[in-house]
Amino acid sequence: MKIARSYTGRPNVIVFSGAFHGRTQLTMSMTAKKAYAVGMGPFPDGVYRAEFPNLYHAPGHLEGEEAIKYYIGKLEQAFVEATPKQSCAAIIFEPVQGEGGFIPAPIEWVKAVRKICDENGILMICDEVQCGWSRSGKFFASEYFAEVNAAPDILTTAKSMAAGMPISAVTARAEIMDQVTPGTIGGTFGANAVAAASALKVIEVMAKENYPEKAKKIAEKCNKRFSEWKEKYEVVGDVRGMGAMIGIEFVVDKVSKEPNAELVNRIVQEAVKLGLLLESAGTYNNVIRFLCPLCVTDEQLEAGLQIFERVIKNCLN
Ligand SMILES: Cc1ncc(COP(=O)(O)O)c(C=O)c1O
Repeated sequence: MKIARSYTGRPNVIVFSGAFHGRTQLTMSMTAKKAYAVGMGPFPDGVYRAEFPNLYHAPGHLEGEEAIKYYIGKLEQAFVEATPKQSCAAIIFEPVQGEGGFIPAPIEWVKAVRKICDENGILMICDEVQCGWSRSGKFFASEYFAEVNAAPDILTTAKSMAAGMPISAVTARAEIMDQVTPGTIGGTFGANAVAAASALKVIEVMAKENYPEKAKKIAEKCNKRFSEWKEKYEVVGDVRGMGAMIGIEFVVDKVSKEPNAELVNRIVQEAVKLGLLLESAGTYNNVIRFLCPLCVTDEQLEAGLQIFERVIKNCLN
């Protein structure tokens, strides 16, 4: 945000419902779920929120083009009611919302956002802190956007970048980065040589062993299995994602689509007893986020999937 503000000379940014961008004072105001910000206010101004496209919960059962039109309309509404376009420095979103429930940004929506940005001098920022570094089936999920001429202007990444060593990156064209006044971006933990060396090694291994391809193979296997579960179990409402970042949304029933957080909580507790670590996500805590290590073997993956299904069955009985 500092880079976008500095480059454009504009004060405001637009973020989305369901977004998670972190827990610093500034990013707490960008993150949607205020459970992450209890007792921490007041929060910085200039952050405005529009509705993120969630095709499973689109109002009025809107689908395809109609749904995209609805959500772009919601973004346009933010320019009328929250910040004028000429005061907007950036639109920021996660290519696949992580904490928000593993919701992928539909490519047609991204193309429309890119067009709005291009026509109004707004920067498009993709937060790939969770979905970046091979998990999506490409090094970066936004490579899928680049294929349709909708690449972001700024990319933020971290987490898998150094396999656990603390490091993060913000990447943009030199023209953007060079606009920032020296000394305004930095910090005590910047330029840590051990973390940087670790990141270089991790990136080398990811490229050499083709981790994006590994993610695609995992995705193929899991999507097949999870789709079968969706057919089989009334409580499995939706299966979605990008590459090996897959969300399974649990509901009370397929018609009401009412969130079933209680079941998800039980599944997580029961799975751990059988040696499988699962993590929940979603604004209503009713999504299991499937984020297995990309170095998983076929045998380990199969064992995990079997435990997962056994737990679902046990919890339903
Ligand atoms: C999409 C995304 N952005 C940013 C962050 C960074 O969050 P924090 O500031 O809590 O480390 C995370 C962490 O989970 C994330 O998932």
